Amino acid sequence: MAINLRGKSLLTLLDLSPEQIRYLLDVSHNLKAERTGFQVYQRFQGKTLAMLFEKRSTRTRCAFETAFGEEGGHPVFLSSADIQLGVKESIEDTARVLGRMFDAIMFRGFSQEMVEALDDYSGVPVYNALTDLYHPTQVLADLMTIEEHTGELPGLSLVYAGDGRNNMANSLMIGCAKMGLDCTILAPKELQPEGGLLERVRGVAADSGCEIRITDKLTEAIPGADIIYTDVWASMGEEDKAKERIKLLTPYQVNQEMLDMAGNDVLFMHCLPAVKGQEVTYDVIEGPNSVVWDEAENRKHTIKALMVATLL
Ligand code: CP
Ligand code: NVA
Repeated sequence: MAINLRGKSLLTLLDLSPEQIRYLLDVSHNLKAERTGFQVYQRFQGKTLAMLFEKRSTRTRCAFETAFGEEGGHPVFLSSADIQLGVKESIEDTARVLGRMFDAIMFRGFSQEMVEALDDYSGVPVYNALTDLYHPTQVLADLMTIEEHTGELPGLSLVYAGDGRNNMANSLMIGCAKMGLDCTILAPKELQPEGGLLERVRGVAADSGCEIRITDKLTEAIPGADIIYTDVWASMGEEDKAKERIKLLTPYQVNQEMLDMAGNDVLFMHCLPAVKGQEVTYDVIEGPNSVVWDEAENRKHTIKALMVATLL
């Protein structure tokens, strides 16, 4: 069956079927090969992208802005300090105005409801560039990176160690469940995934023939892992929780001892930015198992693929 994503938004990976994710990954690999071969195209010529930011960003902003701009499009960066949103104007009205002027909208901020409202009211494709709940474009890059380094996806075993309730844990569970990777969330009881989402993701995993496991024990999670993934212990907007998180999450730091326990040629992954010395040691993130820079680069190729697939 031909895959057609034209006009589609990406608010969470739950929106996409495994076949659609597969298609986006194939387009991403092709676009990366094109870029590496210095082939230049102008696919977004005459198009405009609104880039709304309530939170900071390095990778995601640069990925969207350069991917859209180098293909001839005009990305417009709009931080919440610059526009009327949330001060003088509602999200619904902002969405309707932006929808009249732009071909697509990306949003990075706090609530998932905001990105949903943009989608409901703008009439153009909307991309979730991170909310408190999900970070779907990051996981597209993660899947691409895993595939580049291992040549496969289904049947691999990914362990996410850290805050099991944050946007990365949620989106990794979904991405793994869709693409047939076993996923273990290794986190203390206080920070394990929320029950409703877990139930839904386990339903997706059952269809793909893989498992989603939750544990607070390293010895249950780590042996046999192909990928160990972590993220910051306090996400953007949770800075006041940093102290209590250090207490809860120190036993789950990714260090050489944890990699050795995997007993495999394990990949180390992190969405970045990282706090070296907290969730991961300097030696591991800078060491031979780490693929974090490929992961960062692949943000651009996967985000370009998403826009090519949904805008052309
Ligand atoms: N991984 C990621 O989303 O990075 P930024 O916060 O720098 O965009
Ligand atoms: N969980 C992190 C991800 C950053 C890309 C945060 O939300 O800050």
